[in-house]
Amino acid sequence: MRHTLSARAEAECMVRIGLFDERNKEHGVVLERLSLTNKTAVVTGGGTGLGRAMSLALARAGADVALAGRRLEPLQETAAEIEQIGRQSLSVPTDITVPDQVTHLIQSVIEQWGHLDILINNAGIVRGQEMKPVWEITDEEWHRGIDTNLSGAFYGVRAVARHMAERQQGKIINVASGFAYRGRRNEYMYTSAKAAVVNLTRSLALSLVDYNIQVNCIVPGFFIVQPPDSPVGQQRREQQGRFLAVGRTGEPEEIGPLAVFLSSSASNHMTGQAVISDGGGLSAGLGPLSVAPIADAE
Ligand SMILES: NC(=O)c1ccc[n+]([C@@H]2O[C@H](COP(=O)([O-])OP(=O)(O)OC[C@H]3O[C@@H](n4cnc5c(N)ncnc54)[C@H](OP(=O)(O)O)[C@@H]3O)[C@@H](O)[C@H]2O)c1
Repeated sequence: MRHTLSARAEAECMVRIGLFDERNKEHGVVLERLSLTNKTAVVTGGGTGLGRAMSLALARAGADVALAGRRLEPLQETAAEIEQIGRQSLSVPTDITVPDQVTHLIQSVIEQWGHLDILINNAGIVRGQEMKPVWEITDEEWHRGIDTNLSGAFYGVRAVARHMAERQQGKIINVASGFAYRGRRNEYMYTSAKAAVVNLTRSLALSLVDYNIQVNCIVPGFFIVQPPDSPVGQQRREQQGRFLAVGRTGEPEEIGPLAVFLSSSASNHMTGQAVISDGGGLSAGLGPLSVAPIADAE
């Protein structure tokens, strides 16, 4: 069951937890540091799933958000939601595996809005890769998996880093996966690419630190991105939730605040970090997936 707070109840709650305590003005500063007012962002894969949730959260925190993905329709749907929040949005059809398209994405957003403060490299192939023996993986499948889950993030950073360096400010957030930290039977491209995304984050962080650009990585565990009542979503909730310490899978909205934090000045002293949001899955060792005695959980 979802709980939503009225604006008044939310304000009262904030007073209770000290964020709006008049006796200590510093608490007000905490919220100001999370504000993204006057910031602009690009979110790849921003039309669906976690990318959509992060885009809406950034917009609620005050940012204008450009969305990139191959299909225009989901981008436009999320863009309409961002505009309802009162922020601007751009939909830029982009295949992140094609370097020229990624460069065009970044340049067109800078031309339109004059500056780009935040890049979230979220697009990835989550499902749809057939799991099969290593000798059956074609060159095309290997390169598509690596390009979508790793090279696309590199192309994005390469396209935006000089702009951010010249402005002496920037936030880059890569999206990896719990599979960066564990293997999976008959899965090669996703696990390899996501592990590389974590280390790409570290190298970029060290390389861009002199330009006041922070580069961090979000590591999601199991989040249900299917529509709430879809049979696949229900099945994933049941099958995957029981392996997690918290006893349930994540909901996309739970990633949004983390993206806001890493996009904001509140995280200025953090760089090169991989922040895991997985309901305690990796901490607890996580139940085995796709190996005996438990059947594949997807
Ligand atoms: N959901 C989870 O449990 C989970 C767990 C760990 C990590 N993640 C990571 O979170 C990110 C988002 O996944 P999600 O769960 O939200 O799944 P999703 O809804 O399928 O989102 C993937 C997004 O990436 C875009 N995309 C895929 N290939 C692309 C390409 N070549 N060029 C441009 N855009 C491309 C898709 O849009 P188009 O198809 O229109 O291009 C889509 O919007 C991924 O990086 C995924 O690995 C998710």
